Amino acid sequence: MPPRKIIIDTDPGQDDALAILLALASPDDLDLLGIVAVAGNATLPQTQRNIRVICEVANRRDVKCFAGSDKPMSRPLLTAEHVHGATGLDGIDLPEPTMPLQPQHGVDFIIDMLRSHEADTVTLCPLGPLTNIATAMARAPDIIPCIQEIVLMGGAYFEVGNITPAAEFNIYVDPEAADIVFRSGVKLTVVPLDVTHKVLTTKTRIDAFRAFRTHLGDVVVAWLDFFERFDVQKYGSDGGPLHDPCVIAWLLEPHLFSGRFINVEIETQSPLTLGMTVADWWGVTDRTRNAMFLKDIHADGFYALLTDRLSRL
Ligand code: BDR
Ligand code: CA
Repeated sequence: MPPRKIIIDTDPGQDDALAILLALASPDDLDLLGIVAVAGNATLPQTQRNIRVICEVANRRDVKCFAGSDKPMSRPLLTAEHVHGATGLDGIDLPEPTMPLQPQHGVDFIIDMLRSHEADTVTLCPLGPLTNIATAMARAPDIIPCIQEIVLMGGAYFEVGNITPAAEFNIYVDPEAADIVFRSGVKLTVVPLDVTHKVLTTKTRIDAFRAFRTHLGDVVVAWLDFFERFDVQKYGSDGGPLHDPCVIAWLLEPHLFSGRFINVEIETQSPLTLGMTVADWWGVTDRTRNAMFLKDIHADGFYALLTDRLSRL
């Protein structure tokens, strides 16, 4: 099978960084057409810088990097520097990237790539707010049937929320964008907090990256050490949830995951539950099923995959 063509849409973020590294480490499986930055964990100037920092850590200056939307479709931007640090990618001082940012707007890149490929051959992998993807759909609805699948990190059902009691960060930042994507009719696979809160960065798992004794291994350890402190303090857990790499892991080894094909809708009105992913897990409505909503993951299998692949970089 030829490698699956993907576009990563992201707001790095230390966990986004590991997702990008996992994709870069898997060229036999994944053909990374480009990486598009979106505002989310940090502002766009930071996230577009960070995607290039990450590519340079992996010595992949050839990857096409784009800047997309700098704010949600119809709300002010909310960022998460309290989790990810002032740069969005705190943990270690790295040189300013010198590889180019592509001149094309990231949303135009997504539209052009989908139009220039055969239908059903490009998968979108959003790891941040869904602003770029929804903007592309709104501006060029003809691309919607061309998308092979969207595999996204966002939402929660059993875990409910992390940025508010009812909402997960990526969906909460741009609920109108999420609503467009969840109503689009595109094949959707959702990796919610219910999965990502099961893949904790325990000491043993971080030590496996330390054992690489490479620059990349040391950078990964520094990012994870910084990233986990927030959730360890918040949840009293053994490590932080490594959200975004689960999206890439699903593409590589879907047998590690389980879930249900259900109806999922986005709350866009209520001030109390804004951004909630209302997931009909128990099938109590007759609403149309629109998403494969994952719930469980084989955590050790996930870390074995991540460690093995990153050791190849
Ligand atoms: C999501 O929000 C961000 O902080 C992480 O990068 C992840 O994409 C988890 O809620
Ligand atoms: Ca992210």
